[in-house]
Amino acid sequence: MKELINDIGILPAQESTESCETFKTSAEANTGKERKVYIESYGCQMNFSDSEIVASIMHDNGFDTTSDFKKADVIFLNTCSIREKAEQTVRNRLVHFNGLKRNNPSLMVGVLGCMAERLKGKLLEEEKIVDIVAGPDAYRDLPNLVQTVDDGQKAVNTFLSREETYADINPIRLNSNGVSAFISIMRGCDNMCSFCVVPMTRGRERSRDPFSVVAEAKALFEQGYREVTLLGQNVDSYKWSAEENNKARLEKMQVGEVINFANLLEMVAQVSPDLRIRFSTSHPKDITDEVLYTMKKYDNICKYIHLPVQSGNSRILEMMNRTYDREWYLNRVDAIRRILGEECGISSDMITGFCTETEEEHQDTLSMMDYVQYDYSYMFYYSERPGTLAAKKYKDDISLEVKKRRLSEIIAKQHELSLKRNQLDVNKVFRVLVEGTSKRSEDYLQGRNSANKVIVFPKKNFKKGDYVDVRVTSCTSGTLTGESIN
Ligand code: SAH
Ligand code: SF4
Ligand code: F3S
Repeated sequence: MKELINDIGILPAQESTESCETFKTSAEANTGKERKVYIESYGCQMNFSDSEIVASIMHDNGFDTTSDFKKADVIFLNTCSIREKAEQTVRNRLVHFNGLKRNNPSLMVGVLGCMAERLKGKLLEEEKIVDIVAGPDAYRDLPNLVQTVDDGQKAVNTFLSREETYADINPIRLNSNGVSAFISIMRGCDNMCSFCVVPMTRGRERSRDPFSVVAEAKALFEQGYREVTLLGQNVDSYKWSAEENNKARLEKMQVGEVINFANLLEMVAQVSPDLRIRFSTSHPKDITDEVLYTMKKYDNICKYIHLPVQSGNSRILEMMNRTYDREWYLNRVDAIRRILGEECGISSDMITGFCTETEEEHQDTLSMMDYVQYDYSYMFYYSERPGTLAAKKYKDDISLEVKKRRLSEIIAKQHELSLKRNQLDVNKVFRVLVEGTSKRSEDYLQGRNSANKVIVFPKKNFKKGDYVDVRVTSCTSGTLTGESIN
């Protein structure tokens, strides 16, 4: 997701090498509510999905959303802490809003999400403009927090829950083009990757009631949506057992039965053959052959897997506490190719210059890329985060210059691979779900194929939400261009 400002729709992932430092504003909704909230989202898809929950909670408490912050009574920044740069972007944005508040002292400014959780009340001291600080599990409390500020005080809630999944909240689809929508299936993360701040900002992992997930997918399909993306930091560890969670669910499940991610995928896939299913993110340690076979069984489960490797070197992976090594990862990629074939899209996240990484170890990341032939990757240089295992245990000893040089090398490699992978698609026919008009020209539509590749083709009489069979005629490293054949 890059430069999403005032844009509607989920941009093709290929355009996003910095998925976690960009933002998107809330959409306009006029239902005659008294006050208006403007929401700006930063970071990962989970955060964008959370903003939709926030909009819904605010809507039920007297607020419409606006896409113009000048019209807002309340401004919420839903923030990300993943890298230092992500936090700096938010701080700069707060400076920008300062002027606005000088002219309108009753304007309320809230910081939500991961930065709120990481910095808690400290944010109020550091950023005078901020009135509300609310962590990812505190959104039901937002109306009370707003009331506290109305009453003349500042308000903080950064309580992390073991249960909250917002399962009963009907999100207001701010991030949607009317064709694709996000569905959060779990929250938090129980992995302890040594570089990562997420377990601290999002708390313990918990899975959402699968029946509420299916009901949400059904409702979306009935409203005309044709694609859902199931979201979680680690979707393959999804687990729901009736006893642990809700006795009432025993009506629908056997005693002792557990619904895992493969089961959930199957349940959602059965909503309709015309509803496409995507999911993100898969952790290499947890993705099972059962998931791969479920993907194979259903045409409407898209053949695309985001499988972040982080590094191609086993010693670095061990220090990162990823709990797999190079061989394990290669075995998972081989399983994907064996079960789902060469056309299955695979993408990755990679970090260069992690503590003590040598040139040879960096070469292992490059050779891993050659082996896997990633369709695209989100690539970053290591940014030490306070409080993480790596910050406590290891010295951040690779110079910025070296981190950046290694980053530019993996970006160049990825560029080459993306082009190569796209060239393999020329002359092939793919079923494309139309997401809207191409950004290049009004006469063209764009959508994605099952493998998540963006395909642009002449509009003719097709429209958003149609499935169109398109023959690819040419490509760049970022996009395929083609002609419809039906
Ligand atoms: N749950 C996902 C990742 C979420 S964070 C997973 O396990 O794959 C998205 C990406 O940000 C990570 O995959 C990693 O590549 C990157 N990232 C996380 N912490 C980082 C840090 N401290 N410095 C640089 N990149 C980081
Ligand atoms: Fe962070 Fe690792 Fe959890 Fe992903 S799996 S969110 S990288 S701790
Ligand atoms: Fe950022 Fe939080 Fe997502 S730190 S990447 S917004 S979970």
